[in-house]
Amino acid sequence: MSDNLKARECFGSKFGIIAATAGSAVGLGNIWKFPYVAGENGGGAFLIIYLFFVMAVGVPVMMSEFAIGRRGQRNAYGSFSVVAPGKRWNLIGLMGIVAAFFILAFYSAVAGWTLEYMVSSATNGFAGQSSHDLENTFSAFIANPIRPVVWQMVFMILTALIILAGVSKGIEKYTKLLMPLLLLFIIVLCVRSVTLEGGKSGLAFLFKPDFSKVTAKTFLYAVGQAFFSLSLGMGALITYSSYFGKHENLASTAVSVALSDTLIAILAGVMIFPAVFAFGIEPSSGPSLVFITLPGIFQKMFGGGFFGSIFFILLAVAALTSTISLLEVVVAFFSEELKMTRRKATFIATIAASILGVFASLSLGIMKGVTLFGKNIFDILDYSASNVMLPLGGLLIVLFVGWFGGKKMLKAELSNEGELKTKYYPYFNFAVKFIAPVAIAAVFIYCMFWESLG
Ligand code: PFF
Repeated sequence: MSDNLKARECFGSKFGIIAATAGSAVGLGNIWKFPYVAGENGGGAFLIIYLFFVMAVGVPVMMSEFAIGRRGQRNAYGSFSVVAPGKRWNLIGLMGIVAAFFILAFYSAVAGWTLEYMVSSATNGFAGQSSHDLENTFSAFIANPIRPVVWQMVFMILTALIILAGVSKGIEKYTKLLMPLLLLFIIVLCVRSVTLEGGKSGLAFLFKPDFSKVTAKTFLYAVGQAFFSLSLGMGALITYSSYFGKHENLASTAVSVALSDTLIAILAGVMIFPAVFAFGIEPSSGPSLVFITLPGIFQKMFGGGFFGSIFFILLAVAALTSTISLLEVVVAFFSEELKMTRRKATFIATIAASILGVFASLSLGIMKGVTLFGKNIFDILDYSASNVMLPLGGLLIVLFVGWFGGKKMLKAELSNEGELKTKYYPYFNFAVKFIAPVAIAAVFIYCMFWESLG
């Protein structure tokens, strides 16, 4: 019997479910993106707005994805075919699979950089470099046609090996190991950072809201960041929840995952801003914060080689638990819909994502000149997945569960067929029907038109 016809694998425990799902959510989005987006948008003020959207939009969308996946018991496309038979809603799932594939291509490139930086930190490779040198080191590295690609391939192979091992013996086993490690490392780094002289102002920056920096854009960034960070709108959570047991409480799982993800993002801020302030650096240094600013700080800090290596291991671990969820989206689709064995599906999906990934990597160097609408390949993949497919997928999901065929199924899934009380349902219903569609549509319109005009 081919393995796609065997009984469906499941996560074996509550902790396994949370580790895997929070593992997907916690990633470069939390540790790399959240601190710099918060840094550019008023620190604490951004945090408050972000928290609101995580609870009012993120959690309801997550619960909806969980319901679809667990009811469908299939990949992102197949689950929609089960919950809405004969309808074209499964195209949402298909778009999610394409989005996951695109994200995997550029995300694995950045994940590869974390390995290079891990090795450089451990071997004291940044010693004596000024911030200008560090900037040059970084630009030269990402433009190099070989090194980043090699690291990216190493990362893809690691991801594929875990996926190949299966749902419980691969995904669950490794995320149960890696997530506690991630928490430990981040705590060690937070303690180091807040005990630096002058670090307290970094905490004030993160927790004392400065509303003068808040504009309409801040709200849109907060919704967009919540979506990316919680892994919403691209099939990952539908796929993972298809491995949840029938008695799992979907609402409490969604709240736990959202809170863990947000806690890690806040801890990333606690780890980064005190250090940034202690060394007198601008907190709004943007995407280069992690690969240029931080190595500079580690270098000046006592024990910097050690703490720098831990930091980049932390980033790599966070990225790995996310790339496995992205690859699983594609592998589950290939194996269930195209009837491949898991092994063959993993092989094909990994090769395909790696080829696209190499182009994404090279587009930062020798293939810079290949552009479409002024964007290189890396940016096209990021833009089309994160700014178009992700909010569009999220919007269609809430329209489906809030207004169309998904309503009855949703109630049955959230209550485990009447087993659990769902007192929160009226609030949830309001969020799914009104708050989420309006917030997501605003982000979508902004990303599609406004920003490209500006
Ligand atoms: N949530 C991940 C992060 O914050 O880095 C990124 C991600 C993983 C997005 C998996 C989407 C996904 F399906």
